[in-house]
Amino acid sequence: MSVKVIVGTQWGDEGKGKITDILAEKMDYVVRYQGGNNAGHTVVVGDKTFKLHLVPSGILYDTVVSMIGNGVVIDPGVLIEEMETLKAQGVFIDHNRLRISSIAHVILPVHKAIDSQQEALRREQKIGTTGRGIGPCYTDKVARLGVRMMDLLSKDRLAKRLQKHPNMRPDDVESVIETYAGYGDVLRPFVTDTSLEINRAIARGKRIIMEGAQGTMLDVDHGTYPFVTSSNPISGAACIGAGVGPHKIDQVIGVTKAYCTRVGEGPFPTEEFGEINDYLRTKGCEFGTTTARPRRCGWLDLVVLRYAVRINGITEICLTKLDVLDELKTIRVCTAYQTPEGTVDEFPLDLETFSEAKPIYDELPGWCEDISQVTHFEKLPLNAKNYIKYISNILGVRISLVSVGSKRLQTIHLLTH
Ligand code: IMP
Repeated sequence: MSVKVIVGTQWGDEGKGKITDILAEKMDYVVRYQGGNNAGHTVVVGDKTFKLHLVPSGILYDTVVSMIGNGVVIDPGVLIEEMETLKAQGVFIDHNRLRISSIAHVILPVHKAIDSQQEALRREQKIGTTGRGIGPCYTDKVARLGVRMMDLLSKDRLAKRLQKHPNMRPDDVESVIETYAGYGDVLRPFVTDTSLEINRAIARGKRIIMEGAQGTMLDVDHGTYPFVTSSNPISGAACIGAGVGPHKIDQVIGVTKAYCTRVGEGPFPTEEFGEINDYLRTKGCEFGTTTARPRRCGWLDLVVLRYAVRINGITEICLTKLDVLDELKTIRVCTAYQTPEGTVDEFPLDLETFSEAKPIYDELPGWCEDISQVTHFEKLPLNAKNYIKYISNILGVRISLVSVGSKRLQTIHLLTH
């Protein structure tokens, strides 16, 4: 049995898409367990670049079944479009290769409208959401007002759900029923009891990856609330969002970028402005896959990572984008914060304290050479090896893989999976 959960350890955009893609080669199933099309993965295979928002990246292997679990919120129009784009790029998709939970909640046009209205009302306190209706959809789920994938399969049932929906404008109801019943017709073959299938697969000894979207610091419970997404990206949520018991999970793989980025608003103690920010953004192509917004960039933050290791129960780390640091003479790493309450090396839950936290840095020498073609740890420059060992030692977690570029081959395996 092998069930691995993949989580982002920072504010999302750590490169989970590439890591899932690399590990998926040896997997039977890839399951997405939360979030929606606020996420975006870029996966480069040969000379093709695939942009994925809802479809798990397992779809790029013929041998893998990709599942969208019940914890995901689905914009069916976006999903159908993404499936069409993938097909046009030569990816074969049928109901044996893509499975969608019948109890996953559906994003409606009203959710997108509310998302932007709420952002406008927040003014300077805005969260900087992706505007995809994610928060309002999860709100309806918890308020027991939601529409689920299974509702799209019966026009009568869909009509009953939507006619009673308090946020729907009466004028819009009929057209939404028509459009969404149409989506239901297209997606019908894919909709199933994914939890049942996953548990049967586990019982048959199949190898499974459960992938989270966003990252630990955007978790609605454990992140920098209220500057968070509306779901739980952390590993524990894999059980809920896929319908699997906790004792079935063997490994939790944390994906960590060699520096740090954040999109949207909210505190970010190691954020850099000026030269370093520009360097990281340009060299790391730090622009959102979903919204194309420039990402805020800064140094690696071990306080955040220590917290992520703890609340996710991370058993190993995949370090991504190490090559982006190639040209830096000195690399800074935050080991603790100076706060009004003194020096702390654990993440302060109080957002005010976190907002005022001043990073305390260690400085490590850079390697100043191109490592993007290195495929073996021994071949890395000494200072790059030392950077990897330093992170691993401080966190007390082994680093099992280092990524040095967006292509599959630009990967250094330190352990066999
Ligand atoms: P929402 O998920 O669209 O509600 O946005 C809430 C916050 O999460 C905003 O700061 C977004 O920029 C951020 N966010 C949502 N999805 C992602 C992601 O996939 N990567 C990075 N940030 C994200």
